[in-house]
Amino acid sequence: MSGSGPASAATGASSSNNASSKTSAMAKASQHLDLDGHDLPPSPAPSSPRSGRRYALATELVFTEGSDQYNASSVPIYQSATFKQTSATAGVSNEYDYTRSGNPTRTHLERHLAKIMRAQRALVVSSGMGALDVITRLLRPGDEVVTGDDLYGGTNRLLKYLSTHGGIIVHHVDTTDPSKVKAVLTPKTAMVLLETPTNPLIKIVDIPTIATLAHNANPTCLVSVDNTMLSPLLQNPLDLGADIVYESGTKYLSGHHDLMAGVLAINDPKLGEKLFFTINASGCGLSPFDSWLLMRGVKTLKVRMDTQQANAMFIARFLESTGFKVRYPGLKSHPQYELHNSMARGAGAVLSFETGDVALSERIVESAKLWAISVSFGCVNSLISMPCRMSHASIDEKTRRERGVPEDLIRLCVGIEDGDDLLDDLKSSRPGRRHERVARRHPRRESNTGYPASAPGGTSSRQSGSDE
Ligand SMILES: Cc1ncc(COP(=O)(O)O)c(C=O)c1O
Repeated sequence: MSGSGPASAATGASSSNNASSKTSAMAKASQHLDLDGHDLPPSPAPSSPRSGRRYALATELVFTEGSDQYNASSVPIYQSATFKQTSATAGVSNEYDYTRSGNPTRTHLERHLAKIMRAQRALVVSSGMGALDVITRLLRPGDEVVTGDDLYGGTNRLLKYLSTHGGIIVHHVDTTDPSKVKAVLTPKTAMVLLETPTNPLIKIVDIPTIATLAHNANPTCLVSVDNTMLSPLLQNPLDLGADIVYESGTKYLSGHHDLMAGVLAINDPKLGEKLFFTINASGCGLSPFDSWLLMRGVKTLKVRMDTQQANAMFIARFLESTGFKVRYPGLKSHPQYELHNSMARGAGAVLSFETGDVALSERIVESAKLWAISVSFGCVNSLISMPCRMSHASIDEKTRRERGVPEDLIRLCVGIEDGDDLLDDLKSSRPGRRHERVARRHPRRESNTGYPASAPGGTSSRQSGSDE
């Protein structure tokens, strides 16, 4: 008698005293039935048709392939810390065993990002700073790092920590001037860390020239580029000579400020293995749910960024026309307009401007209604901030002065709202508006007054719209 399922196998067992035939019947049965799902495809991972046709980036962003057993069009969230193995003795018999080391949802995202970032491999971790932490663990005491003087505050803080506690020598120079970078490069330079456009001064760094200088000084020097400000839609540092590109996925890649993530991309497989080792060893790989969220966000990167850039250009032009000093690489007045456009496919959606008066800047920021006062950028809604009071407050005032960060600087991170509404909000804002709203909710707090006529909200520049 032959069993074709658990029930008939059990019947067969009761009618036979032969233990081995019972075992073989069970084995045969389990070949046909997969009640526990062990025979299902291991993961929906293949999102990267590397050998297939490459499409335009707008298409690649949304086009994914998977081997999910149900052909789910959205990658499933494998919210599981562990994966059962088929054998206790064969080592890891499945593709996955423990989510710190690998998870199908994360793999799917990594392959998708590798495709978009034009990389051999991409890795995702729990934040942008987590990505930089993984990169800097390649350094050894005595190694030298050359980096900019207008860095994201968190990057500055991590490098300061490494120079204080890790024996790393960090040179901060104006990376917008390759000759200043060249002056500090030596065979001991293990890493050059670049950010372009810089934030908040929106200075442009010549990646190809500096990468060549760095590799000439030390062929094993790793040129790492923080591409957060532009995203892979607008710039691909690996194509410009970088060895590692990293991004805060918290920003444009996700686009909704509803997750924290960091992305690393490389072309050298050995380097990829080293970075993966640290991610696995330290346990900072992105969670399955955040991987899924980031995957969802990435698909709309182009539509978001297109609108954000168009709005940014509109607002930059207006601010420039009022006489403010505006820093935006989309404006021909930007001193490095040509350089930026030789590397990038767009100017991004972050700009900054100076009012010439710290108190005025504070009032402009505090008066805006549509523009949320918030650190960060890359979100669908518009944000306004004063870097010296917020994102760069961790850099002391003296260092900020030395690095030429004006205390009155306002940074705008432009979203996808209607451009006229955004401009109207800046123009029609008046001193104390946010304070008044707060005062209505918290009567004991006072409101502010006084606003020069030459600035947004002043009588000369105000064109339309109501205050509230
Ligand atoms: C340019 C840049 N790089 C890196 C980071 C760090 O990213 P995360 O906040 O995801 O750790 C930020 C965060 O604001 C940033 O602006």
